[in-house]
Amino acid sequence: MSLYPLLRPALFALSPELAHQLTFSGLDVLQSSGLLERYCRSQTAVTSAMTKVLMGLTFPNPVGIAAGLDKNADHLAALASLQVGFVEVGTVTPQPQPGNPQPRLFRLPAEQALINRMGFNNKGVDHLLMRLRRYRADGGQAIVGVNIGKNKDSVDAIADYQTGFAKVYADADYVTINISSPNTPGLRDLQNQDELLALLTALKNQQQGLPKYVPLVVKIAPDLTELALEQLMTCLLQTEIEGVIATNTTISREGVAHFAQGKEMGGLSGAPLTQQADRILTQVVQQAAGRLVVIASGGVSSPEAALRKLKLGADLVQVYTGLIYQGPQLIWQTLNRLA
Ligand code: FNR
Repeated sequence: MSLYPLLRPALFALSPELAHQLTFSGLDVLQSSGLLERYCRSQTAVTSAMTKVLMGLTFPNPVGIAAGLDKNADHLAALASLQVGFVEVGTVTPQPQPGNPQPRLFRLPAEQALINRMGFNNKGVDHLLMRLRRYRADGGQAIVGVNIGKNKDSVDAIADYQTGFAKVYADADYVTINISSPNTPGLRDLQNQDELLALLTALKNQQQGLPKYVPLVVKIAPDLTELALEQLMTCLLQTEIEGVIATNTTISREGVAHFAQGKEMGGLSGAPLTQQADRILTQVVQQAAGRLVVIASGGVSSPEAALRKLKLGADLVQVYTGLIYQGPQLIWQTLNRLA
């Protein structure tokens, strides 16, 4: 039996950010005692049939943690213990930055949704690297993707991504280029054809000069028009990017506009995002036609939603908001259904 449904009312009585910190403090303690790994293993059985080899990496199963849950790689061991197939950490920026003022994270429990305008609060890439290296030194073997972004006050976006990539490539299993968070002014403009081509060409050139092959993945917004998405996909294929994550949070308020919290600025995630993210996923899968790895994110709030994304053609699937509402049993139930 999962303990999370018993703990959730107490956690939901706290502010979302405090609940987040307390949950991770608890998980880290359970992790270091060895209890977490043992308990999680007893809840699900990852079979060898779930293994997927993609981008030169062997994923033990297709269910992963989306970026933003562990922005600084401070909780890698605990997250890996949940039996996920991979963990994406970040978004990390070259310099540490505080993000937007609080409150900046809002729950919409009736809709199993969140709105966040965190604004890339993070401790900077050097801190993340130190934590990732410590995780590896302690024997951690999970596949870890590092999601990179630009500092809010940076004037040269491409230089920020290049700095991030240069710093993390030796330790990351894959690197995600996040150009789709709605909370950094101008970031989503990098999805436009000319800017995207310049950014991806610069990173691809950098990748080719590296002594180690590190796949590049681009994370996209769910708010792209059909035409804009078509142009973006053409650009990813042309520059031979290895993978795409569809999608980040939405600026749409469809389905939540009538809630007081629904009027908060930021990105909406969770159940109300499912349809929109699935629509984008379908177009991405179609246009990718097997030429790049497709990672689905957005509105996985049940095992059925996760399985649906895989059925739509996603190679891998990521969870975030669903975990806040369902707890880790969302992962275990999905894996049990897959088995
Ligand atoms: C996010 N997400 C996110 N994505 C990203 O690429 N970098 C980030 O730093 C963050 N930060 C972040 C914070 C919070 C509080 C939330 C709720 C989300 C987006 C996340 O990775 C995911 O793509 C979306 O939330 C959609 O998936 P879910 O939450 O509907 O499963």
